Amino acid sequence: MSTPEVPPVGGEVLYESSTSRVVWGDCRDTEVIRSVPDRYGLLCVDPPYGVAYDSGRSTTFTEIEGDDGSVDWASVLAEWVGPDGTQSRGLADARHVYVFGYRPDELQGPLRLGGSAELIWDKQKTGMGNLVHPWGPAHEPITFGVHVKRPSDRAKGGGRLSARLRRGSVLSYPRPNGGSAVRHPNEKPVPLMAELIESSTVRGDLVVDPCAGSGSTLVAAVLLGRRAWGVEIDRANAVQTAERVQAAEAVAASQMTC
Ligand SMILES: C[S@@+](CC[C@H](N)C(=O)[O-])C[C@H]1O[C@@H](n2cnc3c(N)ncnc32)[C@H](O)[C@@H]1O
Repeated sequence: MSTPEVPPVGGEVLYESSTSRVVWGDCRDTEVIRSVPDRYGLLCVDPPYGVAYDSGRSTTFTEIEGDDGSVDWASVLAEWVGPDGTQSRGLADARHVYVFGYRPDELQGPLRLGGSAELIWDKQKTGMGNLVHPWGPAHEPITFGVHVKRPSDRAKGGGRLSARLRRGSVLSYPRPNGGSAVRHPNEKPVPLMAELIESSTVRGDLVVDPCAGSGSTLVAAVLLGRRAWGVEIDRANAVQTAERVQAAEAVAASQMTC
């Protein structure tokens, strides 16, 4: 197996427009984290699951970076919402996070969530995991939460979920890759990402995904008229994300002129 290319410190911008940026970089790199505009509008991320992806059958994919359980992803994401004690850095106050593959009790403290809920992505077909096991996973948890910067506001109940957000907590969207994976073993459906982004942002908001993978979060953001900022450590994935974001911008621009 070849050694993966290591991104430079601070990352390398592979694509940039007036509304999007795709960085080949390590999201644990302080310089990469600090380059993201302050008070951005949504953290929407699908970190590696710490399960050392292995389908049990031969696939076109190699192992996933950071998937060996050695990374404390809750602590990494805590830096992305802004280090404890800072009010102005990172995600804006009282804005939302979505984290795939993790449950609220794992993230409530580190991400300073005032309120949180577990959503379920129903993949409508068997997803990743060891394919020789009798029960193939067909769903995935998603933590939804409201990031509240001040401990005193959290103590007062700031960010508590309101009835206004009352939608079904099971989101059914077919997994894109079933049987014939084309982009990434963990690729998320763009319509699923669009539902999350639409619920939690308005046009022009900045959507951030520090583990962009094949870029579905950023593509959904662009198609919805949001700004998009992504980081991906695997160069081939990052290149693919850059191409998809650029293509999505062309689609969004053509829709504007229709
Ligand atoms: C679960 S996948 C994301 C899939 C993505 N949501 C999609 O729709 O394609 C996690 C991604 O995080 C990337 N990754 C792992 N460690 C990273 C790091 N330290 N910095 C940035 N990206 C990282 C992996 O290369 C992988 O592509």
